[in-house]
Amino acid sequence: MKSHTRSRSRSRQLSACLAASVCFGCQPSSPSTPSNPPTAEQSAEAAPASLKEAFADHFLVGVAMPASVFTQSDQASAELVKAQFNRITAENETKWKGVQATPEFDFTTADRFVEFGKTNGMQIHGHVLVWHTDQPEWLFKGEGGRPATREELLGRLKEHIDALAGRYKGSIAYWDVVNEGLEDDGTMRKSEWYTIIGEDYIEQAFTMAAAAAPDAKLVYNDYNMWMPAKRDAAVEIVKRLRSKNIRIDAIGMQGHYRTAGDPTTAHVEDAILAYKAAGVEVLISEFDIDPLPFAWDRVGADVNFSAELKAELDPYPAGFPAEAEEAQAQRYADMFRIFVKHSDVIESVTFWGVSDGASWLNTWPVKGRTNYPLLFDRQLQPKKAYHAVMAVASES
Ligand code: GLA
Repeated sequence: MKSHTRSRSRSRQLSACLAASVCFGCQPSSPSTPSNPPTAEQSAEAAPASLKEAFADHFLVGVAMPASVFTQSDQASAELVKAQFNRITAENETKWKGVQATPEFDFTTADRFVEFGKTNGMQIHGHVLVWHTDQPEWLFKGEGGRPATREELLGRLKEHIDALAGRYKGSIAYWDVVNEGLEDDGTMRKSEWYTIIGEDYIEQAFTMAAAAAPDAKLVYNDYNMWMPAKRDAAVEIVKRLRSKNIRIDAIGMQGHYRTAGDPTTAHVEDAILAYKAAGVEVLISEFDIDPLPFAWDRVGADVNFSAELKAELDPYPAGFPAEAEEAQAQRYADMFRIFVKHSDVIESVTFWGVSDGASWLNTWPVKGRTNYPLLFDRQLQPKKAYHAVMAVASES
């Protein structure tokens, strides 16, 4: 099933550090100069240069990025992505609004994303064909502003999937066909897709995607996929589709976790095993670990409008304290140990964002925070979490 190969070498580590203009601990010094080559023993012990190299025997390591990175206007982040990752997702540009904000298609930016992946030999992930949010208003409307009918919406869905998934046939390897169709209690989300088309919208979307992108793996993607009720409902989706001979290949566990609180590693492991038993691949599709206080009960608030809120929810505006960074690093390592343990079924682990300064968690669920959820800091330097994750690779 896996075609990833491992190749570790000191010289690749050095060139990755130079290319990325940052250092990952390679310490270029006399032992590796041409006049004093490393001994066989030293070479065998050389640390891998990058995440993609470190986990090459286990899974691909991906990253989601904004247009500024794949168009390379943010050159430093683009170089970091090339040095560290071997799979990419566009944060927004392959979403409905990214290619069809009006009924006319515009693939200008999506084409640049796919081109970046192809040029750099990366696996390309398509995100997303059907989602309940970030959709243009026209999509659900009929003439005179009335709600669209089932037939109208199914027609638009087919046109969208044919055009988007069809355009990148053979280039995009995985498609999130449906994102976040379930509530945490396992019931169907009552989105406009659900209320206008009906419960079979998921089957319809997967059928259309299989026809438009016969070579791509088709994914159901959602958050909190470790929660037992939601996990079981996702397994039911897999079974239902397959009982009707509709192709579904993988479950995407988003993996927006926090340093504190649930899920435990056991929750995550149980879910991975449930998806494995259902016979699908698992993708950790949107991984980050939020170290700030819980704020999901205050969605949309802006901490700058209240000194009280700022004190409570934005504790590290001037820097990430070593202790909090260490706790986050341990949490990352614990999760990665589970991913490595189950790498027979996990095909990829993808981070949601390149570096702390660019993470969605600075503005969501509340605005105005200084967050630190990723492996690279605001200067694109590797954090303790990066080194902890890399250490897990060398344990295996
Ligand atoms: C969800 C979506 C992503 C992205 C993230 C946060 O997880 O699937 O497309 O919007 O939220 O930005």
